[in-house]
Amino acid sequence: MSELHALDAAVDAIRARAPGAAPKVGIVLGSGLGAVADAVTDATDIRYEDIPGFPRPGVTSHAGRLRLGSLGGTPVAVLQGRAHAYEGHRLADVVRPVRTLARLGCDTVVLTNAAGSLHASVGPGRLMLVTDHINGTGLNPLAGANEDALGPRFFDMTSAYDAALQERLRDAGHAERIALAEGVYYWVLGPSFETPAEIRAMRILGADAVGMSTVPETIALRHMGVRVAAISGITNLAAGMVPGSALDHAETMTRGSAMAADLARLLSRFLSGATDER
Ligand code: HPA
Repeated sequence: MSELHALDAAVDAIRARAPGAAPKVGIVLGSGLGAVADAVTDATDIRYEDIPGFPRPGVTSHAGRLRLGSLGGTPVAVLQGRAHAYEGHRLADVVRPVRTLARLGCDTVVLTNAAGSLHASVGPGRLMLVTDHINGTGLNPLAGANEDALGPRFFDMTSAYDAALQERLRDAGHAERIALAEGVYYWVLGPSFETPAEIRAMRILGADAVGMSTVPETIALRHMGVRVAAISGITNLAAGMVPGSALDHAETMTRGSAMAADLARLLSRFLSGATDER
């Protein structure tokens, strides 16, 4: 089946279960950030297993559910849980859910993730506005024949993360008194965490946070002309930054849930458009 047919099948299944849904903004919730979906009103839920072509997320904290509804007065489609390349999923499968959101009518997508910070001053619990990324994997979801109906073979990535959306998120952060850090997200394949030497190298290359997702989705969405914003929830200082301490996934999870409340407020404010009160 061609990718276009796969996307049509996914859109048809969603429309059959939520006939009136017309989401404008898509949101992808990263590890431990699933509780943001609780802030969505008038919700209709569709399990990924009921949407043809949607991969099953493997991380236990990922729900595997699409929630359609309203957030900050905006019609949204929220992906609770994503598949990762480190689980062995093909990148075409990893990006199919966000491509489906675009085909459903979302012209903007906010990607969120759990990430390790490369700065001691930006510790666990902080949210970081992603201003740019570095693809450290050498992988690309668009490798192979181009699907011309989705987008062009070659396309610009100089403003992958939309400047106007970044400004609105900064304003929303001010209004909600959430101290947003900012920086460059470095995509690693995982599932192993990094070595301290790798983290030092990433810092030299200009990275501010490191994680195992988001970048393939950004690439696939920019290919389709969708405006992208991304926010990292910092769950830990990166490898080697805390002497004598090792990284573990459980820590990633506890920090993630503590940040979901801030992220829900930030996104509600962002989507309400009322970002000018300080
Ligand atoms: N490295 C890679 N991915 C991550 C990390 C990290 O330190 N923390 C959360 N996701």
